[in-house]
Amino acid sequence: MEIKIVKQRPQSIMADVLAMPVFEGQDLSFELKELDAKLGGCIGEMKAKAELKGKTGELHLVNTLGNLPVRYLAVFGLGKADKFNADEFRKSAGELSRALSKKSFKNIAIWLGEMPLAADVLAETASGGVLMGSYRFRKYFTSGNENGIIDEIKLVLGDKADLASASQGLIKGQIVAEAVCSARDLVNEPSSNMTPTDLADFARRLAESSGLDCEIFNESQLLEKGMGGILGVGQGSCQAPKFIILKYTGRDSDELDMAYVGKAITFDSGGISLKPWDKMWEMKSDMSGGAAVITAMGAIAKLRPAINILGIVPATENMPSGCAIKPGDILRMASGKTVEIHSTDAEGRLILADALDYACKQGAKQMVDVATLTGACSRIFGSACSGGFTNNDEFYSKVVAAAKQSGECIWQLPTFEEYKEMIKSDVADIKNVGGPVAGASTAALFLEEFVENRPWVHLDIAGTAYLDKDNGYQVKGGSGASVPTLISLALNIAKIL
Ligand code: BES
Ligand code: ZN
Ligand code: ZN
Repeated sequence: MEIKIVKQRPQSIMADVLAMPVFEGQDLSFELKELDAKLGGCIGEMKAKAELKGKTGELHLVNTLGNLPVRYLAVFGLGKADKFNADEFRKSAGELSRALSKKSFKNIAIWLGEMPLAADVLAETASGGVLMGSYRFRKYFTSGNENGIIDEIKLVLGDKADLASASQGLIKGQIVAEAVCSARDLVNEPSSNMTPTDLADFARRLAESSGLDCEIFNESQLLEKGMGGILGVGQGSCQAPKFIILKYTGRDSDELDMAYVGKAITFDSGGISLKPWDKMWEMKSDMSGGAAVITAMGAIAKLRPAINILGIVPATENMPSGCAIKPGDILRMASGKTVEIHSTDAEGRLILADALDYACKQGAKQMVDVATLTGACSRIFGSACSGGFTNNDEFYSKVVAAAKQSGECIWQLPTFEEYKEMIKSDVADIKNVGGPVAGASTAALFLEEFVENRPWVHLDIAGTAYLDKDNGYQVKGGSGASVPTLISLALNIAKIL
């Protein structure tokens, strides 16, 4: 899809369809009234009869019967004007593009002339919304593959808008949305075609094309480094584990300003503590955190903020076999700590422990990890938000601010001292399961054991990484959760270094 920004009066726009916004409870805009006059006033009449309300997600298609250069007018709702903001608009643009793509429109124009947002914000949210909202994972359909692919979207601005700043917004919106969609592709791919090796190959190619440094440790390198967590989880699988490292250098300094760590279990069967069959297929998405870190690093390399970041993605399958780790086993992690395994299904924390320890050893000043870590977290929040955990409130507030800015929601959960009791083991330093309650928090406390008291935020995206319905610019399947947050955080922190 190509996205262009133009300044033009709506009457002269050429496209298959021209989309015109309407606010709930407000009169039609001046421009829409002018168009409507050419159509005999049918839109004004729908409004008067309350068939057109302007609610979010509402869409009316009107055939212009040759009275305008466009074949169709698409009148779409933006909701109440007093609730309107950049996030709401991104959602509306997502709904709009998905609905129009399903109707097989190829060339779409959207009138943004009277929108109460700055030109750069408008262009960023409109482009982001349409790219993310019309996303589909089409690769495996054998027919109808081109259905619903939009060729071109024209964002049409009013004559007072600042084109230069709109172009900047467009670039950012596109880079972030492309990273989100590429994370979705990785997540939606069946796990047999997205093995640790496949993910590592993707990261290597991305690094080559975007100028990141890339290093990938294989099994024997992991052995050398004593990474017992990722090796333990990987030992039940035929697929070799990979430890993926991407480095972005945005400023002339040896300091490592930040590490992003992402869980990449390319398939989580549960291991010997096998999961029930019914939703097991969804565990192809258990590498969502890793996908988010990899694609966010690619976007950061394109946006070039003045910051140094390491992206670390431990990647392995979690499978049952005669070689698999067993409940009761004790693993020695890269940090030297020992862990007693109570469930082989609590594997994410084991690979993250080695990755967080690696981030510390590389000198990361602060770190964010992203992981589909616990069913407990998704039971608390559903898909409404990700769980946030921290050992440092100041750093946490920066991560939450970045999430807010980019339209994502993180809600804090506690890491009470009291819960630490629950991960004590009788035979090792700690165990990998806390017990039947507070599962999201005990998982976070487990991770905290490996961050050496450095500022750290853990994002549990178990409920947000894989969605069961379309909503706004979100679509069913892999969501790309936390990609926008990681990008915004890098841009924000670069400004205060
Ligand atoms: N990958 C799962 C968590 C998960 C569940 C993600 C549902 C997305 C949707 C994780 O590895 C896991 O299985 N966690 C266990 C931990 C338990 C054994 C302590 C869980 O949450 O049940
Ligand atoms: Zn698991
Ligand atoms: Zn898992």
